[in-house]
Amino acid sequence: MRFLFRSWLRPYVGLILVFILACFFSPVRNGWPVFLQIENILDIVRQASVRGILAVGMTFVIISGGIDLSVGSVLALATVISALSITEWQLGAPAAISLTLISGALAGLFNGVATAKGRIQPFVTTLAMMSIARGLAMAFSHNYTIPIHNDQTVFLWLEGFVFGIIPIPAVFFLLIVAVFQVLLVYTAFGRNLYAIGGNETAARLAGVRVDRNKIITYALCGCLSAAAGVLQAAQMHQGDPKEGVAFELDAIAAVVVGGANLAGGSGNVVGSLAGALLIGVIVNVLGLRNVEPSIQKIVIGALLVLAVAAQTQTFNQIWRNTMKRFRRMQTWMIAILCLAGVAGFMTGCSSKSDAKYLIGFSQCNYNEPWRKAMNDAAAAQAAKYPDIQLNFQDAEQKNDQQGNQVRLLVRQGIDLLIISPNEAAPLTPVVEEVYNSGIPVIVLDRAILSDAYTCFIGADNREIGRRAGEYAVKLLNGKGKVVEIQGLPGSPPAIDRSEGFHEAIADYPEIEIIHNPVADWLKSKAIDQMKIALQAHPHIDLVYGHNDPMALGARLAAAQVGREAEMKFLGIDALWHEGVQAVIDGQLDATFWYPTCGREAVEYAMKILNGENVPKTVTLPTKLVTQENAQEFQNELKAASDS
Ligand code: FRU
Repeated sequence: MRFLFRSWLRPYVGLILVFILACFFSPVRNGWPVFLQIENILDIVRQASVRGILAVGMTFVIISGGIDLSVGSVLALATVISALSITEWQLGAPAAISLTLISGALAGLFNGVATAKGRIQPFVTTLAMMSIARGLAMAFSHNYTIPIHNDQTVFLWLEGFVFGIIPIPAVFFLLIVAVFQVLLVYTAFGRNLYAIGGNETAARLAGVRVDRNKIITYALCGCLSAAAGVLQAAQMHQGDPKEGVAFELDAIAAVVVGGANLAGGSGNVVGSLAGALLIGVIVNVLGLRNVEPSIQKIVIGALLVLAVAAQTQTFNQIWRNTMKRFRRMQTWMIAILCLAGVAGFMTGCSSKSDAKYLIGFSQCNYNEPWRKAMNDAAAAQAAKYPDIQLNFQDAEQKNDQQGNQVRLLVRQGIDLLIISPNEAAPLTPVVEEVYNSGIPVIVLDRAILSDAYTCFIGADNREIGRRAGEYAVKLLNGKGKVVEIQGLPGSPPAIDRSEGFHEAIADYPEIEIIHNPVADWLKSKAIDQMKIALQAHPHIDLVYGHNDPMALGARLAAAQVGREAEMKFLGIDALWHEGVQAVIDGQLDATFWYPTCGREAVEYAMKILNGENVPKTVTLPTKLVTQENAQEFQNELKAASDS
């Protein structure tokens, strides 16, 4: 028992305990815990691989007494450089990957030199690099995502499988762990890092070349961040300047749970592997049981506190005393584990619903009112059928999270998937995977890049954009300065709404788009972007927001500086309590109805499950809403939502 609680083994003991609990807590299918399916276990390693590789680099940095906050941004830059290299620059996969790794190493080199030679605290240098790398990623990509198409087979090989089952990112992750553990334990460089992190002055006096070792460490960390970026780009099928936000925190969490001390001088790579897997197992099993993301976050937070507490002297003391007092601790532990397991198993069984059909509902984001309206409409419609159960998942605007959640839904045994994808390129492979496995898929509102789905439901965004353009021409009398606030560039509605608008104003050369920032569909970002537009342009005639929240955000920004009367505001969505109300209140000059398709999604799901044929594309109507018809339309919408 004492052996098991050696400090370096502790993360593994934790991992094994969590693993056992997960087996019991997991839902059961065909008499076997879903968690234990080999595909699921391998997928946990795959999911952990990108952040895990960041954690390997972070382990080195933390052992040396430093910290690297730039890993997430360097990863984003790496996705952009690799995507640009193979698409626009046509370099071929090997050269693209090499260039990406070099750029990551250079970013790390900057961190290392500034920290070691410049004597600037690593927190500050890497914070600066966090901003620089993100800025470079945005500059290279012009803040757009860069799709990697299926013809890039060599590069996309990285998202594949060995022997058809072992995910290649997982293989790379484990290889990197092995190589870097050897580097850490069996080389002078590795031992020097412990010495530097333990006591830098003593290490210096003992003849260790502290600066050189630190510079190499940060360069390695940068290079590993770039490697993680390459794998992420291959899995997401795109380079994305927004990728990797807060990944540095996930990496630090894995390292800390893996037993390293943030003060430096301790930790190791296999510990961080255990940390990354432990977090992965918890996220996986909570996801399998459909536990709310909020609870998942609280559990991970509690785990972090526990992991840090486990390293303290007080904890060790308490542990030793407890061990002394309960000589037969093993029996106790086994008994507690069994009890917890049985409790988990019972809840697992009892929560199994009697519904005949389980439908997975993968929502890209719960943040915006339109999404909530969609979920509410779907839930209200589903309540009419006792035969079905809807399992909602919130991807929080994260492509990788949405992909992972869809895979978890499949493991839960869904009979049909409804998905509103965050962005097209990254979600296309997972939708294809589900559809090709024989599960019907309904894609809502945002299209994917292939026709591997059963049915697409949404309104015609190009048409909406065109009508918005025509209305702008009318409002402006064919002449004026326009600010266009764009939605998430990788989501098809943003592209279509923009292209339609541009088409409609093409014949009016005196209508000029003077500013077209991206605000990712979000009101808060639109406020910030509009503030910049207002600074830059002394006169604006019209703001076209790709959705109502962004148009309203822009109006708020204009009102803050007393300029809202100078311009007209157009939006899209027309929720009765948001956009339509804003037209009634005179805050928007017009909005275009974009039905949420929640009710239709469930209706068509039922048709498919009952074996009926459905059209490949269901196009929902749109409508121009202005002062003239807003009140009447609001009543109509209200009545429909109450029915
Ligand atoms: C909500 C939303 C809507 C918009 C739609 C486009 O996430 O931004 O406001 O109309 O998505 O897909």
